[in-house]
Amino acid sequence: MAAARRVLRWALAATAALAAALALDNGLARTPPMGWLHWERFLCGTDCAADPRRCVSERLFVEMADVMVAEGWRDAGYEFVCIDDCWMAPTRDERGRLQADPKRFPSGIRRLADYVHSRGLKLGIYSDVGNKTCAGFPGSYNHYDLDAQTFASWGVDLLKFDGCNSGTLELLAEGYRRMSLALNKTGRSIVYSCEWPFYLRPLQQPNYTEIKQYCNHWRNFFDVYDSWSSIKSILDWTALHQDSIVKIAGPGGWNDPDMLVIGNFGLSWDQAVTQMAMWAIMAAPLFMSNDLRRISPEAKWLLQNKETIAINQDPLGKQGYQITKDKNFELWERPLAGQAYAVAVLNQQEIGGPQNFTFPLTFLGNGLACNPACSVRQILPASRDWGVYSWVSSLSVEVNPTGTVLLKVVAL
Ligand code: GLA
Repeated sequence: MAAARRVLRWALAATAALAAALALDNGLARTPPMGWLHWERFLCGTDCAADPRRCVSERLFVEMADVMVAEGWRDAGYEFVCIDDCWMAPTRDERGRLQADPKRFPSGIRRLADYVHSRGLKLGIYSDVGNKTCAGFPGSYNHYDLDAQTFASWGVDLLKFDGCNSGTLELLAEGYRRMSLALNKTGRSIVYSCEWPFYLRPLQQPNYTEIKQYCNHWRNFFDVYDSWSSIKSILDWTALHQDSIVKIAGPGGWNDPDMLVIGNFGLSWDQAVTQMAMWAIMAAPLFMSNDLRRISPEAKWLLQNKETIAINQDPLGKQGYQITKDKNFELWERPLAGQAYAVAVLNQQEIGGPQNFTFPLTFLGNGLACNPACSVRQILPASRDWGVYSWVSSLSVEVNPTGTVLLKVVAL
């Protein structure tokens, strides 16, 4: 058995090394990037006279950066403050460069980046592969090099590159490739966040090996909304496509199931726990879209949960997957460094109360996660040691409707 385990460990290490070798070679996103992104919560608010606290403006990003430092978000690992769509002026400047809306960003992006850096954070910005962004602002088509240089000269650290209005599939692919090369050419370290496979999918199977050579993370599916049905649809999609997407994720390149919406209006406590637990299992980039200036202590506790973040950021860099689905229950696992597994038990039933799911520990890690014994610790919804189990034992887990119990199993 020990020999079999050694072989499996060797195979896992070899796969990880191969995945790393094929990733976009910019040295970034060795673990899933973490930060804050304005879109889901603040959308395209441009009327600062009517709504100064919520419009897309430098004030919003300065205030978010301040609170990220003051309230422990930066220390928890959330380092990027990201601007999404709608930051631009409606036209380029006289030299053809993108420019920020002068009313909403009177100091300009360069000054905003300086400020964000002075707080020990990084700045993300947004553009689009086509000639217009999804919200109708100027896109980067035909300007990839110039825009990459502009972003680098401003001190930008991440680019979210959307795929609206790109014309043909060839132009979409070429645009994503060219922007990646243009960013690399600037010499500045800029994380490259893509939506390439999402825009490709309705018409063509994405070539993930290629996408990983150009992007640090990539969206596959629709925008997240502040609702349980949205979270559920993302999880269902991911489980359905896991055979093609899980193996490709690893240091330097990640599947992006979109923003964390915890701390907003649409999710119950159990559903928020599910999003946090499952985004950790999926090795997802963790970009919160919420109002950190006003957030409940419970949401803050969950989003800053150290053990869950440690699972998300695990150095082995392997994405988790669904092992089995049994009526309303889903069992997922994620291999971790140090002969450990993160395990999630999700209860999809939306009627009734808490229910128990019982499964043999041999279900985990192809029978090796608890061999010959293991320690089990519950991480969410609250941390608690469950003690030591032998490989012939079963676990019985009580889960609330639409909730998840997240465990860490360490082989002894
Ligand atoms: C698309 C993206 C979203 C957001 C909007 C902005 O829908 O998927 O994440 O960036 O565009 O317009």
